[in-house]
Amino acid sequence: MNYLEEQIISIGKIRIKNHLADIGIETVRAEIIKGLKAPKKYISSKFFYDEKGSQLFEEITQLAEYYPTRTEKKILSSFVKNSSIDFTDLSIIELGSGDSSKIKLLLKQISQNSLSSIRYFPVDISASAILKSSEELMQEFELKSITGIVADFVHQLNVLPKAGRRLFCFFGSTIGNFRKAEQKKFITELGNEMQAGDALLLGMDMVKDISVLEKAYNDEKGVTAAFNKNILNVINALCNANFDIDDFEHIAFYNQAENRIEMHLKALKEMDVSLNSGFNIIHLRKGEKIHTENSHKFTDKDIKSIEKWGNLKIKNIFTDENRWFKLIYFVKSR
Ligand code: AVJ
Repeated sequence: MNYLEEQIISIGKIRIKNHLADIGIETVRAEIIKGLKAPKKYISSKFFYDEKGSQLFEEITQLAEYYPTRTEKKILSSFVKNSSIDFTDLSIIELGSGDSSKIKLLLKQISQNSLSSIRYFPVDISASAILKSSEELMQEFELKSITGIVADFVHQLNVLPKAGRRLFCFFGSTIGNFRKAEQKKFITELGNEMQAGDALLLGMDMVKDISVLEKAYNDEKGVTAAFNKNILNVINALCNANFDIDDFEHIAFYNQAENRIEMHLKALKEMDVSLNSGFNIIHLRKGEKIHTENSHKFTDKDIKSIEKWGNLKIKNIFTDENRWFKLIYFVKSR
């Protein structure tokens, strides 16, 4: 995660711009320290995704227990023929694009004629993920262009492209990482940004049996545990801190009152952690937890709320045979 320098990479039809420097490292450090000094300590889950974290997340998506990616991909793989989307001359903006494997599934179903008129804009906090996936994508598909946007899209909606007819893709139920108030704010802002003719394709993971949910975040191989703990390595790098990941235990459970999986890191002993090379000291009690992720699960009522907040219209809802995951196609009418 490069918050230091503005950077532009150009390779053939691929162009990647880093906007994280507009936020700046000082702002990010202040944000992290605020969370670690709060009465209930937390770290924003966007900090999972450095190069290692993005790799670990990809590993999670392959796990038997982790059903969301597999389920959403199954829905996506037969999506185009059942949708009414006109892909010609479309600008596809994918928020949190990661390895871009979902957009690949979609592009596979589109004729070469349309493909060569499509502009693809992957937006992610991980520059390495964007670079790798953009190169793969250009190999496989002859798109008009790929413009990678390295940004924290929650705070940087303003850097998204304005031109053309736009399809915003927000897959993976990443919206579930936001608290309810943030979901509302984000969808309201995105809805305001959208013009008549623009559309949103949103992936939402639905409320289901608790044991299925809890297994998905407590896998046998411990990949989710490694993913959770890696956030401390990211904080170490961003804040010159000295967290030792072996001093923490991975915790994930379903909070039924809030319809969400929560992940925490539990301190195995009392400790002082130094940040900013000793300028800030964080004290942790033995057993104290740092909250690292909320992963909200949704109901049909929540889908209606999104429609209302964004001033959008639900066009189609696609789901799997268990109704575990839903892909909602919203259009902006005015
Ligand atoms: C990519 C944010 C949707 O919340 O399920 C996977 C991340 N965390 N295992 C999720 C995640 C733990 C994932 N999202």
